[in-house]
Amino acid sequence: MTANQPSTAAIILAAGKGTRMKSALPKVMHRIAGRTMVGHVLDNLAPLGVAPQVVVVAPGMNQVAAEVAPLPTAIQADQLGTGHAVGCARTALPSFDGTVLVLYGDSPFISTTTLQALVARSAGADKPAVVVLGMRPADPAKYGRLILDATGGLDRIVEWKEASEEERAVTLCNSGVMAIDGKVLWSLIDRVDNKNAKGEYYLTDIVELARRDGRGCAVVEAPEAELMGVNSRAELAVAEALFQDIRRARAMEEGATLVDPKSVFFAADTKLGRDVVIGPNVFFGAGVEIDDDVEIRAFSHIEGARIGRGAIIGPFARLRPGAEIGTQAHVGNFVEIKNAVLGAGAKANHLSYLGDADIGAKANIGAGTITCNYDGYVKARTVIGADAFIGSNSALVAPVKVGDGAIVGAGSVITRDVDADAIAVSRAEQVSRAGRARDYRALRQKLKQEKAARK
Ligand code: UD1
Ligand code: CA
Repeated sequence: MTANQPSTAAIILAAGKGTRMKSALPKVMHRIAGRTMVGHVLDNLAPLGVAPQVVVVAPGMNQVAAEVAPLPTAIQADQLGTGHAVGCARTALPSFDGTVLVLYGDSPFISTTTLQALVARSAGADKPAVVVLGMRPADPAKYGRLILDATGGLDRIVEWKEASEEERAVTLCNSGVMAIDGKVLWSLIDRVDNKNAKGEYYLTDIVELARRDGRGCAVVEAPEAELMGVNSRAELAVAEALFQDIRRARAMEEGATLVDPKSVFFAADTKLGRDVVIGPNVFFGAGVEIDDDVEIRAFSHIEGARIGRGAIIGPFARLRPGAEIGTQAHVGNFVEIKNAVLGAGAKANHLSYLGDADIGAKANIGAGTITCNYDGYVKARTVIGADAFIGSNSALVAPVKVGDGAIVGAGSVITRDVDADAIAVSRAEQVSRAGRARDYRALRQKLKQEKAARK
């Protein structure tokens, strides 16, 4: 951006205590689809290329600071209101000629398009000092009301507590999100006082102050679903449900089959290829990338995993962070994979734990195979070569390597490396004694009869 082109900055308010969450966690750190609320806000803002951005937090909100890093935070020592909160960002933004966006960390769904419309309106020829995002919620409840003038401009914002009956009847509500002319922002904030019903410094007062200065103010309307705020666990659940429905619809629109959409849960960052088929009751945690033509069967739980083209996962599979499933590989029921690479065409179809492992292409991992990756102190890796065959119920005690094409006999406990193309068997030698079963039965039968006769 050139020096004389007005740019956009953002202040994200996140200092509120969120008392109604009844939580030790700051409200904006609660997650929707695996992503924090403040994370959603920042992600939706990102495409606008807004800089600088400052997040206003309360003292001790270190988790929020870590979450928004490398963005700077400004500390609001006491929560004296939204106007006061914006004022706390001043040292980070002493003089800024462009547009300053004010966002709320607990309104996670504001879309990039709506933010762009807000910025565009504030750059309009009539140069409004303040543009407010308005909504017409099904239940206007206790939102602040946007009072328009005769020409449709914004005259003032009245908080519900101060509103008259007539004002409360207004259905156009304040979402809280604003775009403010940076040239007048601090002069407006300086004049906000706390002489009101709540004894707080209301950011909303800047509209009336700007009008008194002879500046116009405006409203941009957006859907309620984008502007909903989350104040309680119940609202968090509503927000989650809303997000999931939108994400499911998008997945199908982009070419995935969801057999029972309502029972599939996505993370905010789940990436799906084309012709992916997802069975009922599948959960995606953060960090999942799925290539084309993959089938995820019912009841699978997948997080932090990459799944290659044409792979089949589940039913009842568990993929944990660092799982990399090769093309055409199969992961079957009750198989858990963590921090492990399963090569192209490899199969682990039943009852296994594969952790900290590299498994070569087309290897076959028998039912019940366990990589013993942890000795109580450190984790170690298991390396299995291409085309290797691991017999059922084997324990591979890491660190250990099984070479390409090697075979491990069922029930083995492998503690030493196995060469390529070797057969390794590590279990007690089998002995068979001819006729001994018959002799044994006869003996037992006789003893039982003798005991009965003595009674
Ligand atoms: C605010 C608006 C109201 C609007 C509503 C929409 C004011 C005075 N009122 O009311 O018109 O309809 O939002 O949801 O602005 N915060 C701080 N520091 C503070 C106070 C708040 O950082 O001292 C942050 C909170 O973390 C939250 C946001 O500001 O992210 C909104 O604060 P909140 O107290 O929830 O405002 P409302 O009373 O809901
Ligand atoms: Ca609120």
